[in-house]
Amino acid sequence: MQQFNNKILVTGGAGYIGSHTVVSLIEQGFEVVVLDNFSNSSAEALRRVERITGVTLDVVSADVRDRQALQNAFEHNKFDAVIHFAGLKAVGESAQQPLRYYLNNVDGALQLLQVMNDNGCKRIVFSSSATVYGDPSSVPITESFPLSATNPYGQSKLMVENILRDISSSDPNWQISILRYFNPVAAHQSGLIGEDSGGVPNNLLPYISQVGVGKLEFLSVYGNDYDTHDGTGVRDYIHVVDLASAHIKALKVLDDEHGCQSYNIGTGRGYSVLEIVKAFERASGQNIEYKIMPRRLGDIASCYADTDKSARTLGWQAEHDLDDMMRDHWHWQRKNPNGYN
Ligand code: NAD
Ligand code: UD1
Repeated sequence: MQQFNNKILVTGGAGYIGSHTVVSLIEQGFEVVVLDNFSNSSAEALRRVERITGVTLDVVSADVRDRQALQNAFEHNKFDAVIHFAGLKAVGESAQQPLRYYLNNVDGALQLLQVMNDNGCKRIVFSSSATVYGDPSSVPITESFPLSATNPYGQSKLMVENILRDISSSDPNWQISILRYFNPVAAHQSGLIGEDSGGVPNNLLPYISQVGVGKLEFLSVYGNDYDTHDGTGVRDYIHVVDLASAHIKALKVLDDEHGCQSYNIGTGRGYSVLEIVKAFERASGQNIEYKIMPRRLGDIASCYADTDKSARTLGWQAEHDLDDMMRDHWHWQRKNPNGYN
C-alpha cells in the first residue's frame, strides 16, 4: 500500500469522528499518535480501534492546551502532519458557556499551531463545520459562500478558520486543509465504534435511534412549516466512514499543495427529517413515534453541500447512501444501547 505520509498526530482521536479516522489511517498504512483529554470520550473507544485494526495505539492523555505535553509529543515523534479534531461541539451548551468553548476550541488550536510552528511541522487538517455558512441564501452551498456564525461554537470554528488563513498568508510553507463537515452519522460496520452521545442527544440520528431502542418515547420534529418539500428541515447526512476517508484524501493532497483550502464534506444530497424517520424505520424495522413541535431556535430550513470542489481537488466522494447510513447507525445503537458504558 502506498504511504503518503508517515506519522500523524490525531488530536481528539478518541472521539466519534477521530476514532473512525484513526481506523482509516491505520488501514492506509499511516502511523498514528492520538492525543486526547477524554473530556468527551472513553478510552474504550481506542481499545476497540485496537481490536478493529490489530494495532496497539500510541496514546497521549493530555489537553491540547497543555503546551508542554504537546512539545514532548513532538520531541518524541517526527510528525508529518496533524489532524485536529479536539474540540467541544454542542451548539446549545456553547451559548451557555461561551468562555469554555472559546478557551477550548480557539486557545486549543492556537497552542497546537504554535507548537507545530516551533517544531517545523506545518501541515494540518482542521475539523470545521457547515455551521460556518450561517443561514445560507441558497442551496447547494459552495465553499465560496459568505461565512458567518450564530453561536459561540460556530464562532469558534470561524475564528480558527481565520487564524489558519492568516498563518497561511504569512508563511507559504504551511499546508492547510479545512474540512467543513455537513451532518456526520452512522458508525463503523463492525458496530464496535460509533457516536456515544451520553445523556439525551441533541442531534437527529442519535435521538431517533434512542427512540428505536426504547430509551426515549418519541421524536420531537422541530417544525413542519419550513420552505422545504415536506416542511421539515433538510440536511446533508454523511456516513462517518466516508468522512474519515476524506481526511486521508486531504493528507494526500497536502503532500503537494501549499496554502490553505476549504472543502465541503457531504454527499451533496439533502434529506428531510421525515425522510430520515422513514429511512430509519426501513433499516431498523422499528416504528418511530414522532410529534410535530415548534421550530428549534437557530435552525435553518435547508443545508446541503455542493461537493464539486472536494470531488475535483481531493478526488473524494461519499460512497455510502442513506440506507447504508441508517443500517450502520442502527447496528451500532443496537449493539451498544448505552454507548461505551
Ligand atoms: P467528539 O466530542 O466525539 O470528539 C472530540 C474529541 O476531542 C473527544 O475525544 C474529546 O475528549 C477531545 N477533546 C475535546 N477537547 C479537548 C482538549 N482541549 N484537549 C484534548 N482533547 C480534547 O466530537 P466529534 O463529533 O468527533 O467531532 C470532532 C471534531 O469535528 C470537533 O472539532 C467538532 O467540532 C467537529 N465537527 C463535528 C461535527 C459533528 O456533528 N459531530 C460536525 C462538524 C464539525
Ligand atoms: C447541529 C448544529 C450544528 C452542528 C451539527 C452537527 C444546531 C442549531 N446546529 O446541526 O451547528 O454543526 O448539529 O453537530 O444545533 N431535529 C428534529 N428533532 C430533534 C433533533 C433534530 O426535528 O430532536 C431536526 C432539526 O431541526 C434539523 C435536523 O433534524 O432540521 C438535523 O438536526 P441536527 O442533527 O441537530 O443537526 P443540525 O441542526 O443540522
